[in-house]
This record gives sequence, C-alpha cells and structure tokens, in this order.
Amino acid sequence: MAKINISHLYDKKKRGEKIVAVTAYDYPCALVAEAAGADILLVGDSLGNVVLGYESTMKVTMADILHHARPVARAAQKALVVADMPFGSYQISVEEALRNAVLLLKEAGVAAVKLEGGAQVAPLVAAMTGQGIPVMAHIGLLPQTAALWHGYRVQGCDEASAREILKAALALEQAGAFSVVLECVASEAAALITEKLNIPTIGIGSGPHCDGQVLVFHDLVGLNEGHVPRFVKRYGAAAEAMRRAVGDFAAEVRQGLYPGDEHSFPMNADELKRLY
Ligand code: KIV
Repeated sequence: MAKINISHLYDKKKRGEKIVAVTAYDYPCALVAEAAGADILLVGDSLGNVVLGYESTMKVTMADILHHARPVARAAQKALVVADMPFGSYQISVEEALRNAVLLLKEAGVAAVKLEGGAQVAPLVAAMTGQGIPVMAHIGLLPQTAALWHGYRVQGCDEASAREILKAALALEQAGAFSVVLECVASEAAALITEKLNIPTIGIGSGPHCDGQVLVFHDLVGLNEGHVPRFVKRYGAAAEAMRRAVGDFAAEVRQGLYPGDEHSFPMNADELKRLY
C-alpha cells in the first residue's frame, strides 16, 4: 500500500479529484478512517473540545498533540498524517516553532504540521518549509484565537475580507505551504481562492468548490451529539449505537445473562472433583 504524499495531493488537484480529510485522535478511529479511504488524517487541536472536554482549543498542549499523534501515525499505512501545532507552540519564536514542528515529525511520526494564521505567519511558514518541514496553512475562521477577538463568524462575506483571505492564501502558498485549510469562508470566496492557488485547498464550512473537504471524525460519525455547526453533516449515529451496546451489556449483567457458558472457561472435571 503506497503512502499518500504531497505530490499525490497536487496530482489530485490537477485531475480535479477531491481530497478527503478527517480528524483522528487515537488508534482505533484512525484505523476506521484509513480503512474508509481518507487521504489525510488530521490530528487536529479540536482534540481539546472533542476528546479532552475543554471549551476551546486554547488549552491543548504540545504534550497532548504528541500523545494523540503517535497512535494515529502508527495506524496510518496509507493516509498522510498531519498534526496541528497547538496555540503557544509557534507564537513565541521561530526557533521554538521549528523545535516543536521537528518534535511532531520525529517523535510522533507525522508527515506534516498545520498552523493557523494569515499573511502574518507567512515568514514563519517560509522558515519552516525552508528547513524541509511540510506545512499546511489554515485561514478564514481561526478557532485558536476566534473567541479572543470577534467570535466564531463566517469569513470573506464582503469584497474586502474576501480579498484579504485571498492575499493571505497567496502569501502562504508563496511561503511554501503545501495546502491550505479554508475554515468557514463564504463559498464564492473559497471557490476563487481555490482557482487562484496551485496548492490544494481543504474546506471546512467553505462550500463545495474547495479541492478537498475535512470534517471532525466525532461530528461526522455522530459520536458528538452536542451542538455542531451548520456545515457538519452527520453520516452515522455512533453515540446511539455505542449507548445501545453498553446498555445491552448492563441489562444482561443485571439479569445474569452475561457471561454465558460460551464466554466462560470450564475447569477440568477431574480436577474439579478433587477440589470439592
Ligand atoms: O483542529 C481541527 O480539527 C481543525 C480542522 C477542523 C480543520 O483544524
């Protein structure tokens, strides 16, 4: 099974073949996503909300991402594994950003890192890609800092802001980013950005014209039953299926139906006689 690499993603864009990305935070879910044919497994810092129970991604640390990226990288035989750089891991200095990115590549075994930010992070992206670190950019709605500023809002709805996002996308491409996530960007603006860039755009809440789409695993399989944004489509009811399974186990334990003989280990009959 050949591993998907960055060239494959460029080829897919050229051929007009959609790229499928999904988040993964552990070994079993990564196996499921990989077997289902995801091209990219993203160890997103959405880990904070989805798995660690935080209100935002702000508290996610490098240790958290390293811990969750390792099993995802072990599970991925084919998919390209990308790990998010959490807030604070790339803001202090270029040197610290490089050190943290190298940790993700070497210790967690991921193939690339992702970081949030517009044109202002282009010099950092250039420093990273200049050292051979593949970087996926992330523009539009930036969940790490959105709550500190204007909240969670769709971006690029007017000409000025659409132009600004396009400018950022071009600057990040110029800086060497191999792909760019467009989060909650108005569909038409996302379509224009996708057309203007040579690198693939991966949309989340940014309409159908991006080169690929990404969703949070727990949202799309229905494991997250809390509030989900309008752009999420639930393709399964995993939480319901899991609740039913655990509920059936609890009922059978209480009724003495589980474990049955087929789940138990009998003693040798002669040994049993001697025991009594
Ligand atoms: O953290 C994450 O899961 C992400 C995707 C939603 C793009 O950044």
